[in-house]
Amino acid sequence: MLVAPSLLSANFANLQKDIEMINTSSADWFHIDVMDGVFVPNISFGQPVISHIKKYAKKPLDVHLMIVDPDRYVESFKSVGADILTVQAEACTHLHRSLTHISQAGMKAGVALNPHTPISTIENVIENCDVVMLMSVNPGFGGQKFIEQTYRKLEQLTALKKQYNPNLLIEVDGGVTLDNAQKLCDYGVNVLVAGNTVFSSPEPLQVIDRLKQIS
Ligand code: DX5
Ligand code: ZN
Repeated sequence: MLVAPSLLSANFANLQKDIEMINTSSADWFHIDVMDGVFVPNISFGQPVISHIKKYAKKPLDVHLMIVDPDRYVESFKSVGADILTVQAEACTHLHRSLTHISQAGMKAGVALNPHTPISTIENVIENCDVVMLMSVNPGFGGQKFIEQTYRKLEQLTALKKQYNPNLLIEVDGGVTLDNAQKLCDYGVNVLVAGNTVFSSPEPLQVIDRLKQIS
C-alpha cells in the first residue's frame, strides 16, 4: 500500500515541520491539494507554496488539481516540482489531451473522479492514465465523511484496470481512516490519501505505519 498524507491538514504556519515529519515517516508521497475557489468552494494554495514545499520534501509530490482549465498550468506545476499531476475529469473538456499533455511534460498522469461521476467516463482513456483517483468525498475540504458508494465504483474500476491497464494505480481520496483502510485495500486500492487521519493524531508516524502495513 502506498500512503500519501495530505498537506491540506498540515499546519500552514509551520509547513516545514510537517514536511520533515513526513520525510522521516514510512509514507510514500506528499499529497498536495490545489483549489481555485471555482471548481471547488475553497481556495488553498498554488505554485509559489509548492515550490517551497519541494525544497524540503524528500518524496514525490502528488499534486491534485481541483481547478478549472488545468491545461493552462501543466508546465507550471512541472516547473515547481510536481511528480504526479492529477486533474479532475469534470474540469477537462478534452480529457485525452490533458492526460497526454501531462505525460509529455514528464509527469505521471492522473485523473480524479468526483463521487457522482461514473467510471465509464474514463473507460476510453484508461490506457493514458498512470493513476485514477476516486474522490470518496465531495472535494474542497479535509475531514469529511467517506461516501460508501465508492466501493461500488472500485469494483467497476478494478475490472477496467484488469482488462486495459494492469499497471494502473488506484488512489482513494477523502475520509480515509484506520477503520476503512483494510476494506479499501481489499477492493483493490493501491494508494491511500489521508489528511485528517494523519494530522489530527497525536502520533502521526504511527498512524502512517499502520496504513502502510495494510495488505
Ligand atoms: C479534499 C482533498 C483531500 C483532503 C482529504 O478535497 O482532495 O485530499 O485533503 O482529507 P481527509 O483525508 O481529511 O478527508
Ligand atoms: Zn486531494
